[in-house]
Amino acid sequence: MSKVTQIAHPLILHKLSFIRDKNTGSKDFRELVEEVAMLMAYEVTRDMKTETVEVETPICKTECKILAGKKVAIVPILRAGLGMVEGMLRLIPAAKVGHIGLYRDEKTLQPVEYFCKLPQDIEERDIIVTDPMLATGGSAIDAISLLKKKGAKCIRLMCLIGAPEGVKAVQEAHPDVDIYLASIDEKLNEKGYIVPGLGDAGDRLFGTK
Ligand code: PRP
Ligand code: URA
Repeated sequence: MSKVTQIAHPLILHKLSFIRDKNTGSKDFRELVEEVAMLMAYEVTRDMKTETVEVETPICKTECKILAGKKVAIVPILRAGLGMVEGMLRLIPAAKVGHIGLYRDEKTLQPVEYFCKLPQDIEERDIIVTDPMLATGGSAIDAISLLKKKGAKCIRLMCLIGAPEGVKAVQEAHPDVDIYLASIDEKLNEKGYIVPGLGDAGDRLFGTK
């Protein structure tokens, strides 16, 4: 079974409180989501491999560590996942960015795919799928299935808030995919929204309904 990591760092919890607040406007919401994504990226990349290189300081030669091996791809699930990309690119500037467009049908809650553009060498990359919300898990499950169909092998999922139902569903569908969240909330309501959650992430990021 995959690993589920809740990243309960005080800075992340502090910022998440303002993200949840319905009185936080789009500009602050966007900035806060970006900042939390950057802080989470620190933890999500914790087990990346390093290699030793020789560096000459102004004083002497020394052995240092740099990131080794595999390259990274960040794959946001459109639209809301886009809000996490800039923050992650600040920490991993060499990462390539793929896009998967999915929306959740309001009645059936089933994800509908409308776009997919990925780096050509996706099978060689460490992939971090981003989406602020993991509700029923349908969108994340479909996005990960699509990535696997395109050859992706090493995939992690990074969300701000998850419902227990969504976490369980992703673990069952993709037991090889580790999940990172800032919070696992209480439950889903009858409309499939996370409780207490933050409302509709895409609408709050982009100011649309
Ligand atoms: C939201 C969210 C996830 C999905 C989560 O996207 O960003 O992608 O719902 O729900 P699920 O786990 O039940 O699939 P939405 O479909 O509202 O599209 P948007 O990002 O374009 O607003
Ligand atoms: N999508 C959102 O944006 N918010 C939720 O609470 C559930 C799905």
